[in-house]
Amino acid sequence: MFQISEVLKRVPFFRTLGRDGIDFIVERLKFKPFEANEVICKAGDPGDKMYIIINGKVKVVVTPEDSDEEHVIAYLGSGDYFGEMALLTGEPRSATVITTEPSEMFILHKSDFEVIIERFPSITLSMGKIMSQRLRDTLQQAAKGSKSQIAPAVKGSLADKKLVDVLKFCESNSLNGKVIVRRGDEEGEFHYEKGVLQKVILGDLSEDEALDQMLNWDEGEFIIKPRPIQLENTEAVEEPESQPANRIVIVNNSLVVQKMLQRTFESMGYEVYVVDNAAKGKNLVQSLKPHLIISDTKLPDGSGTEFLKMVREVSTAPFVLLTEASNKEEFQAQVGNSENVYLTNSHEVGEIVKIVESALG
Ligand code: CMP
Repeated sequence: MFQISEVLKRVPFFRTLGRDGIDFIVERLKFKPFEANEVICKAGDPGDKMYIIINGKVKVVVTPEDSDEEHVIAYLGSGDYFGEMALLTGEPRSATVITTEPSEMFILHKSDFEVIIERFPSITLSMGKIMSQRLRDTLQQAAKGSKSQIAPAVKGSLADKKLVDVLKFCESNSLNGKVIVRRGDEEGEFHYEKGVLQKVILGDLSEDEALDQMLNWDEGEFIIKPRPIQLENTEAVEEPESQPANRIVIVNNSLVVQKMLQRTFESMGYEVYVVDNAAKGKNLVQSLKPHLIISDTKLPDGSGTEFLKMVREVSTAPFVLLTEASNKEEFQAQVGNSENVYLTNSHEVGEIVKIVESALG
């Protein structure tokens, strides 16, 4: 039998909340088992729950507009969560999620989720970062899989979601493409490049007038249409195959952290190798000569700083030690001024990505 708080501690953003936060959330979770092949949520449906996987596995799928083909964009397992996007954005489900094996989940209802984020606003921040990454992955995968390169559109009603919030969402997710807004026979467009508004169109109106008018529409619908990543009649963008990818070794014995980092860095084009202890880590570093190493502070066969010493016998590659605000100082004292060593303030993916990218220049 599992301990709820133990499961939650494995979920990265809950872990940062500490005991009080976890206790607060535990009271609001409902447990539910699912059979294999159950559709838990469907793209386009409204969403009022999010799910945390205790054990089992789900696939996240999208079906591009022009086909019935199903594209799997991610598999999620123990310690992962899904369904947060609809709760955070108020938009319909961005993808369909189906169990691939019997699974057990915790369910968090929207009303409880809202109470939680009000009390622990930092959750929104860490979830928001993962959400942007997921959205980018989804668009990228959908564009890769679809022969006509059409990325999935997101639709919604202006009665449920204010246009100003839709536009903010496009900015924060660096939209390339357009938002189409319809009310009765009227139809307007907002064109975006990397999340920056380029053009507003509504009939013959000037851009300012068009914007003013549409911002007052409180009924009708909006469609966010990301532009295809690879356009027809253009040369295919070279996959990074021709350029060898940077290799990262991750040494961590938490499955959740391993998977979270592996998925993130692989989606960014890195070659990722994961091991769970210092001895295996040193062997791998010696044979693979990675460009960077990420290590936990506590490994089954020693501390992160002991592992650093072992690594330095065979490699001078940047070494990222996953410390937290509470223990950073202690580890900083242990590593002193060692060259090419970076300590994190948290286990947040966004921060780790930034450190890795700046360490690799
Ligand atoms: P939501 O849009 O509410 O419903 C579908 C869920 O699938 C979505 O929230 C995310 O939790 C999840 N999802 C969508 N895209 C991805 C992705 N690229 N990787 C992992 N999970 C995703």
